[in-house]
Amino acid sequence: MWIPDRQSKKPLYQQIADHLEQRISYGEYPPGSLLPSERKLADQLGVNRSTVILAFAELRSMGIIESRTGSGTRVSKTKWGATPKHTPNWSRYAEGGSFLPNPPFMRRIREALHQHPSLIDFASGELSADLAPNDEITKLMSEHKYTSYLGYDNPQGYVPLRQALVSYLERHRGIHTTESSILITSGSQQSLYLITQCLLSPGDAVAIEDPSYCYSLPMFQSAGLRLFRLPVDSSGIRPEDIRALYKKHRIKMVFMNPNFQNPTGMVFDAERRKQLLDLASELRLPIVEDDPFSLTAYDGVPPSPLKSMDMIGSILYIGSFSKIAASGMRIGWMVAPNSIVERLADARQQMDFGLSVIPQQVAAQFLNSNHFVPHLERLRMQLQFKRDLLIEALQKELPDLVTFSIPQGGLHLWCKLIPEVHDGKLLEEAIRRGVVFVPGSVYGSDSGYIRFTYARAKAEEIGPGIAKFAEALRELIGEKPAL
Ligand SMILES: Cc1ncc(COP(=O)(O)O)c(C=O)c1O
Repeated sequence: MWIPDRQSKKPLYQQIADHLEQRISYGEYPPGSLLPSERKLADQLGVNRSTVILAFAELRSMGIIESRTGSGTRVSKTKWGATPKHTPNWSRYAEGGSFLPNPPFMRRIREALHQHPSLIDFASGELSADLAPNDEITKLMSEHKYTSYLGYDNPQGYVPLRQALVSYLERHRGIHTTESSILITSGSQQSLYLITQCLLSPGDAVAIEDPSYCYSLPMFQSAGLRLFRLPVDSSGIRPEDIRALYKKHRIKMVFMNPNFQNPTGMVFDAERRKQLLDLASELRLPIVEDDPFSLTAYDGVPPSPLKSMDMIGSILYIGSFSKIAASGMRIGWMVAPNSIVERLADARQQMDFGLSVIPQQVAAQFLNSNHFVPHLERLRMQLQFKRDLLIEALQKELPDLVTFSIPQGGLHLWCKLIPEVHDGKLLEEAIRRGVVFVPGSVYGSDSGYIRFTYARAKAEEIGPGIAKFAEALRELIGEKPAL
């Protein structure tokens, strides 16, 4: 009986897909016939079910098989007449290009959430539907006529939104700027992308926090950057580490998320902020300040951004609507020196002609409306409530097995597991029990950490979700649950 070759350079899922395609073309599985289930094939071939799922996805993308929920996976009837051998080899194309795929854990989590929408989701770093300002936005959309010209707009961003952001930044973030220094982006993600693609070159050395959201983004590697780590302690990174990296590797830029950092929840220490700004000015080193979470500060006093203290233009400041309002609107912004904004706006024109003007109009209305501040207040209270539910559940279910610091803002709790467990096995065991989280190694840290996002799950799911997670963990370490 055939099994995949683990020594081969070809990925396991690809070997399985090729093998199945061959058997289908031999007529072993005629058109319309049922293929073995994913679980059965995984058992037969001695691989993870996720590998078979990938092999099936490959065959599905080629039109060879079709899956319908509840009735399994069948060989395609319709497409089979035109043999897929005549179609371009899309899988080879998909492996080409310069953009690397997401880390395997992230793909696995996305796939599990897609396949099992009822999973309790401690993985997705976003707000649950009830925390987003849906009613307010629907009301604004029905009250306002969006009559402006719907042709190509300025790729730097819709002017009324940039004007609204000038007062938002002044009022809520203590940042003084003008609309010509603001670039509207498709979320903060696009700001990071534009910076890595347009301001840096392959081979450049940059410093990122460890652990950090940036590690979960292959975009840094895709841009050919050399990444150096700045360890994060309870007060954030240490400026002297930046000096050392500069001396040794001539780093060209530093990426930071100083306020309620993803994943640790840490707030960068005030004294270190001053030292960092002095160092940035001494070394003429640009600092990217990624600041999506600060307005969630549960005490209502958001930490001041580095940008508000930046008198010489060292900071590229990135903000977003995603964690404070609605991630699906894809509204983000960058505040930067004029030459940089112009360069990046020019790149936007080449890439996509700028963001659609419609969500920009809605975002401007929302920021200017008297709904925005009450929404923020409600959001903070509800996030704090969910955080407390998570802490209570962890203390009840796993008092002896985890440690963590209590986040004072943001969406995430960074949790250290006391027993040693295999990240991947724990994730699979948790998914099997109906809950999903992100293993800390995705963020560059050593294994043994977990990022729990408490914003995405419904409040009533948090306790049961942690109970399922605790069962999975105790199962792996061979412990019976406490009665
Ligand atoms: C620190 C950080 N930066 C940037 C992003 C990207 O968010 P968006 O593009 O939705 O603004 C995220 C999303 O999780 C994040 O956590």
